Amino acid sequence: MVTENRGKSSRMEVDVGGITFKNPVLTASGTFAYGIEFAHLMDLNSIGGIVVKGISMKPIAGNAPPRIYETSSGMLNAIGWQNIGAREFVENKLPALRKYDTRIVVNVVGFSLEEYLEVIRFLNDHPGIAALELNISCPNVKHGGFHFNKDPRDTFKVTSKARKASRRIPLWVKLSPNVTDIRVFARACEDAGADAISAINTLVGMAVDVQKRRSRLRFVTGGLSGPAIKPVALRMVWEAAREVKIPVIGIGGIASTEDALEFLVAGARAVQVGTANFYNPAASQRIVEGLAEHCRSHKIKDINDIVGSLRI
Ligand SMILES: Cc1cc2nc3c(=O)[nH]c(=O)nc-3n(C[C@H](O)[C@H](O)[C@H](O)COP(=O)(O)O)c2cc1C
Repeated sequence: MVTENRGKSSRMEVDVGGITFKNPVLTASGTFAYGIEFAHLMDLNSIGGIVVKGISMKPIAGNAPPRIYETSSGMLNAIGWQNIGAREFVENKLPALRKYDTRIVVNVVGFSLEEYLEVIRFLNDHPGIAALELNISCPNVKHGGFHFNKDPRDTFKVTSKARKASRRIPLWVKLSPNVTDIRVFARACEDAGADAISAINTLVGMAVDVQKRRSRLRFVTGGLSGPAIKPVALRMVWEAAREVKIPVIGIGGIASTEDALEFLVAGARAVQVGTANFYNPAASQRIVEGLAEHCRSHKIKDINDIVGSLRI
């Protein structure tokens, strides 16, 4: 996307691991369904990309309800990996999605290493997918997922095998904030050949109904997202971006242009909008417009000039 700047134009394209996105705003996995469900609520052509809900080889029903609970400035979810499965996705969602002028990124989930690889190999046979985002950071499953993000050696192993399995499509790895030092995991991903890092997934939390003396969620714990996690996400993105050379995609509590700018300044090459979609389905489109306006009014020729511009 190019925006007029008193006769000059601001460049909005960003390169993430060898793929050009027309602007740096994507929607986050699990908060934007398979994308097409939002087509009547906003202009899907306006955003840089859509990261679809985590896809497994076979369909998954997800966890039992209650599995969503609103907190102060945030939301707890324990959806689990509810999804329609890879085959159904490529047959019934991808063809409609591909008609839009936006990049499609598929978030990949698996209960074991072999399951991740199976989904990756399968998706590699289907055109129209710009990148795969390896989800090793979901806190709401009992096997797989986050268990590969507890020890950097496991992160290295799953990333390098996934990288080899993805013959054609770039591989991003989505990291958890539920670790002591995200830099160690970012490094493991880069060393294993990841093309980019997405950070962060949700923070493990819980809420209690004191009348019933039960957790508000059937799964007991859940993942905290929304404005409440933004400062933590920002700090982790900043740390990761200083640690590795591959691009970092910033996620966590982004709801406004200002939020997105904070992440770009801290070092994110692109951002993903998550929980904000639940109360403002057009949030990502508004942020694209806001970034273009920011560049115009500040006479910034290239949005990449903002990336990592934090003064310390
Ligand atoms: C209801 C819900 C479902 C989610 N499902 C996924 C998922 O399938 N895969 C994934 O990597 N992240 C998933 N996430 C995490 C988000 O993509 C994002 O990393 C997180 O919510 C932080 O961003 P936010 O504060 O903007 O929501 C989910 C988040 C929510 C709220």
